[in-house]
Amino acid sequence: MSAKINWTLAALFALTMAANFVVRPDPDVPNIDYLPDMAHSAAYASFSPNPILPEGKTMQPPVPGTLPRGFTPLHYQATPEDALRAGAELKNPLDPEKAKARGTVVYQNFCTPCHGGSMRGDGAVAMHGFPAPPNLKGENSVKLTEGQMFHIVTFGQKKMPGYATQLTPEDRWSVIAYVKAAQKETTAAAPAPVPPSGAPAEAAPAPVAGQTPAAQEVKK
Ligand code: HEC
Repeated sequence: MSAKINWTLAALFALTMAANFVVRPDPDVPNIDYLPDMAHSAAYASFSPNPILPEGKTMQPPVPGTLPRGFTPLHYQATPEDALRAGAELKNPLDPEKAKARGTVVYQNFCTPCHGGSMRGDGAVAMHGFPAPPNLKGENSVKLTEGQMFHIVTFGQKKMPGYATQLTPEDRWSVIAYVKAAQKETTAAAPAPVPPSGAPAEAAPAPVAGQTPAAQEVKK
């Protein structure tokens, strides 16, 4: 009796395997579309051609002379002259005390790799060959106005990249509030003055140095 069942099961198994092989799916043929409206939307997709709208495009450029909501235009170019103009004209719109908490996070995420937690330009990236940035607590950096810093963080300066695409204006102002607060703490705490910025570059001990010659050039 049990032998009969076993033979039947074995035959069924062989039959299923064979059926599996015969009706196997062909990857070259697309599957049947059921409820096609769920797969193909009736609306035009952002990048699909459009017979109704100008230039045959679905996505249209903004109307000239308009701004997106919440967007503040910045009328400066990435030039040293405009950095000075920004320095004179721009003020931090945030309350420095409230902005500091967010600024700390932004600094740790975006600035420590190069500038280092101590702000002396000894971040991990600088320690592994990237030109060391100047000491943000050094004399030159302390003299930078918040507007100048905003221009630097927005457009970059020499080897430092701009952060306009990664940081909102608010985050840029927050990190500046944090850097300014840290500068004030050090100037208040440290009795010894920072070495004069005119000191020859060789005199400074390499990456942890006060100012790089490059930074002095920019300051003039
Ligand atoms: C990829 C490395 C790198 C990162 C990341 C970086 N910086 Fe810099 N930063 C530099 C370098 C290099 C310089 C010197 C540029 C020059 O030669 O003028 C510099 C210069 C500066 C200066 C001008 C200092 C002076 O005395 O002239 C400020 C201010 C500054 N950085 C702020 C920031 C802030 C704030 C962040 C984070 C949002 C940041 N940087 C992130 C590399 C970096």
